[in-house]
Amino acid sequence: DKLHQLLQALPKCEHHVHIEGTISPELFFRLASKNGITLPSDDPAFESPAALHARYQNFTSLDDFLHYYFVGFSALINASDFEALTYDYLALAYSQNVYHAEIFFDPQAHISRNVPYHTIIAGMNAAKARAAVDFPKLSIEFIPCLLRHLPVPSAHELLDELLASGHFFDGTLVGFGMSSTELGKHPSLYKSVYDSARAAGVSNFTAHYGEEGPSDYVKDALSLLNVSRIDHGRRSAEDADLVAQLAESATMLTLCPLSNVILKGVDRMQDIPIREFLDANVRFSINSDDPAYFGGYIQENYCAVQEAFGLTVDDWGKIARGAIAGSWCSSSRKEQLL
Ligand code: HPA
Ligand code: ZN
Repeated sequence: DKLHQLLQALPKCEHHVHIEGTISPELFFRLASKNGITLPSDDPAFESPAALHARYQNFTSLDDFLHYYFVGFSALINASDFEALTYDYLALAYSQNVYHAEIFFDPQAHISRNVPYHTIIAGMNAAKARAAVDFPKLSIEFIPCLLRHLPVPSAHELLDELLASGHFFDGTLVGFGMSSTELGKHPSLYKSVYDSARAAGVSNFTAHYGEEGPSDYVKDALSLLNVSRIDHGRRSAEDADLVAQLAESATMLTLCPLSNVILKGVDRMQDIPIREFLDANVRFSINSDDPAYFGGYIQENYCAVQEAFGLTVDDWGKIARGAIAGSWCSSSRKEQLL
């Protein structure tokens, strides 16, 4: 209907998409074959792209998804693989009128396979350079995430390598985040990593919390890690004081509605506290997370929210303006996006 046309035309900002989560089963099989990668033989899901796609309909939890997500990494070897993956995502996002994209990637899970950090960034930068020509209205930023299923010292090693690259200070990396498994991974475990990064001059911080984990993890991430953003943050709604704090501090939640439904964080889309966040003036954006796994890119997420909540044009204006204000780009770029 008319609102869905408006949502397609609406200039969008995407703040929560993992580039490795954009690898389709077809591309995974193609790259694995090209690169001579053996697929897991003990799981019938890897018999064909169709079987893998079918398995994605039956995720039971974040950790169940993460198993398949990290197998997907194994097909990514050369800079050209990262370039193709990134360029294809940017082309699709631009077709949905994404004008500002901040893209996560997980260096530790590549470096541990002997794919160097500079290979990843060379491929992603090549895609960004082509996008500057082909998608002139699109601004692009990259954000590395530390992985919480790995030991904390590995996160310190990653930070040291990223700092040594100089990429936080030359425009290559816009900030620092963390992802992967959540339950049992309290923010206090990572305080020393975030403190070191801040002391070295890194300026924008975020962290995945409140996806499966309780609202206390969100509260403690704000106080211990000093993040200006929370990825997901859905369960913040369970704590009224926290909701007020998020509104007061203009902390942006990067919500991922289809992701929450597919990973069984909620039973139904209607259970995501979109209305509560709007009414409490909590800033949030709507994002795709891992679109190749969750059945939709940003437009499908916007439409799913509209189907579930029947928002007004004014609601969408508020969401769109909040997403621009919460972006990690210059104030002059924000003016252009408005
Ligand atoms: N949560 C945690 N880790 C992730 C996600 C997510 O939604 N996507 C990719 N890694
Ligand atoms: Zn995520």
